[in-house]
Amino acid sequence: RRRTTVLGRRAVLATVPVAVAALVGAAGPAGAGTTGAAGAGDPYFPLSGNGGYHVRHYDLTLRYQSDGRLDGTAVLTARATQPLARFDLDLKGLTVGGVKVDRTAAGVKRSGQELVVTPRHALRAGQDFKVTVSYHGTPKPVTDPDGSADGWIPTDDGAFVAGEPQGAMTWFPANSHPKDKSSYDFTITVPKGRTAVANGNLLGQRTVKGETTFRWRESRPMAAYLATATIGDFKVTQYTTRDGIRVYDAVDPREAKAATPVLKRLPSVLEWESKLFGPYPFTSAGSIVDHAKVGYALETQTRPLYDSAPDILTLVHESAHQWYGDSVSLTSWKDIWLNEGFATYAEWLYSEQHGGASAQKTFDELYARPAGNELWAYPPGDPGSGENIFGTPVYDRGAMALHELRKAVGDREFFAILRAWATEHRDGHGTTAQFVRLAEKKSGKPLDSLFHTWLFTKGKPNKA
Ligand code: ARG
Ligand code: ZN
Repeated sequence: RRRTTVLGRRAVLATVPVAVAALVGAAGPAGAGTTGAAGAGDPYFPLSGNGGYHVRHYDLTLRYQSDGRLDGTAVLTARATQPLARFDLDLKGLTVGGVKVDRTAAGVKRSGQELVVTPRHALRAGQDFKVTVSYHGTPKPVTDPDGSADGWIPTDDGAFVAGEPQGAMTWFPANSHPKDKSSYDFTITVPKGRTAVANGNLLGQRTVKGETTFRWRESRPMAAYLATATIGDFKVTQYTTRDGIRVYDAVDPREAKAATPVLKRLPSVLEWESKLFGPYPFTSAGSIVDHAKVGYALETQTRPLYDSAPDILTLVHESAHQWYGDSVSLTSWKDIWLNEGFATYAEWLYSEQHGGASAQKTFDELYARPAGNELWAYPPGDPGSGENIFGTPVYDRGAMALHELRKAVGDREFFAILRAWATEHRDGHGTTAQFVRLAEKKSGKPLDSLFHTWLFTKGKPNKA
């Protein structure tokens, strides 16, 4: 959720030298059909992700030093989906020491954010393989088309690590598109006294000679942008909820006073959301509250990350993303309203059911905005470019689309649709077209024109 608007700050859009450099690998041009594509085919972020393989698991071993340097070894367990004489990983900045495919040193070439790997022996379609990348350097965030920063963002006591939409590549070599989901192991060593927080369960922590190593495991499929390895001087609280969810909270002491009463409500928020959306999709939860000037929070899987103490609605929003965005992932960034419209609507529902404004009142106030308001600047189902994916139309008009659906099908059907979406696509993916089809199937009503109006029509829609 955005705490400060980034709309209006226009970053210079870099022209993307799509795949040109990737066509010339270390071993010379490969035969047609044996080169993994340099991108996953997303028009908003053409070089995010890669073609030709699926990463089943990332094993990331990181050592962070107080001067900000990072040493890393990433072992990716992958499966080729086509013959591969060459394939790419996404990695921006940092120095690569070497790359191995299985046990053999591979050819490696850097080309912008593409790390081009040429295995000694070409891979067959369907072949399982391991890629080991050793790297080091001082990670820097990437600037997004809307002017915000994401990825590894240094702070005064470590780093705020939030990778949406394209920042995973600033701290580990990745197939960095939500189309590809993987399990993760993290082994993170930091100076004694600092804490390293990643996703999933803490397997153990050990201090040896002035350094502490934290081992984390996320065993549910996770998109690369939702991975974190946030480091700081944190106060840690751990407990298990009555539903058996393991909670790990890490809070910057400067934010503790404001954060503690809000974080305490996480179990009740997750219980409330489980009633509406279906069972919580993961087995661990928690919050990371840093003290940084980033301007947004991120729904890092199992453990949302805040740049300062969140308010209750921000906690509700990031928690709702665990169902919508994390468990059910995008296949294309243009469908971002499936994440942000849903998480925003969760806020409206929370207010409605906890003594605040009704969803209808929130809708009416937004609808009253004049035609020239930024809310109507572009349709949420087709934001047009990566510059617009975190804008007001995606969040608020996306939520308005859901409210219109609710009014059209009635509460009973509406909540059944929300639950079915989370349940049927759990640990997987969903598209806007699939959501529309599900809503029609469940309600037995034609909804094409409703969604067309609220998601795809330019300008302020006329009310039905
Ligand atoms: N998904 C986040 C949220 O709304 C926002 C992430 C914004 N990222 C960015 N690079 N501006 O909860
Ligand atoms: Zn959000």
